[in-house]
Amino acid sequence: MNVFIVFAHPEPNSLNGALKDLAVLTLNENGHEVKVSDLYSMGFKATLDRDDFLKMENKDRLMPMLEQFNASKTDGFSSDIKAEMEKIELADLIIFQFPVWYETVPALLKAWFERVLAHGFAHNILEGKVFDRGFLKGKKAMLSFTGGSDKDSYYNNIPNNDKTKLLPPVSLVLRFTGMKVMDAFAIFNAVTLSEDDAEKAFEEYRKLLNNI
Ligand SMILES: Cc1cc2nc3c(=O)[nH]c(=O)nc-3n(C[C@H](O)[C@H](O)[C@H](O)COP(=O)(O)O)c2cc1C
Repeated sequence: MNVFIVFAHPEPNSLNGALKDLAVLTLNENGHEVKVSDLYSMGFKATLDRDDFLKMENKDRLMPMLEQFNASKTDGFSSDIKAEMEKIELADLIIFQFPVWYETVPALLKAWFERVLAHGFAHNILEGKVFDRGFLKGKKAMLSFTGGSDKDSYYNNIPNNDKTKLLPPVSLVLRFTGMKVMDAFAIFNAVTLSEDDAEKAFEEYRKLLNNI
């Protein structure tokens, strides 16, 4: 299987960095091909703007949706976006590894969603090519995140403790593109985690990855 890990944490020696490293190691041991985009170390651009497009259809006014549709028809995305799109195209499974910051993904990962899961590439809302008809149908996505709060605060708004719907706006974006969202892997109370609990969580993640 081809696995693409999108890693969004500024510190390699963080809990999130360790989870990313564990995933690379375990997936490789199981014979999977793994690609990683380490968004901070790559200096991934955090703004959707005119530089995303090689040639603008409307130079007078930036209309992001229009330009994304145009770029997807004309191979007109900037090279950094194209490189990410190529990794998505090759992937069977995309793992997003991040800490929860203010109830959602870090801004840099949100920027990746905005710039890379582009109109015309990941979906086409004007033609109803979303959800089951989204262009990324057939691919799987998994959120792997850490949060400082406890488990209950995450499951409060999720019907039936459905792990595929944790962080609702984020899982919705992924489903919107057609991807099948798998159960999330999450470490709660991440700031106060004891060494024992960290070890247990790592073991749980290793098992999950071994059976992916
Ligand atoms: C800017 C910021 C916002 C945060 N917001 C949340 C939050 O909304 N919910 C939560 O559970 N933890 C929150 N946290 C705690 C982080 O999720 C926690 O520090 C992180 O998961 C620990 O992982 P790390 O050691 O890899 O950084 C926040 C931390 C920061 C720095």
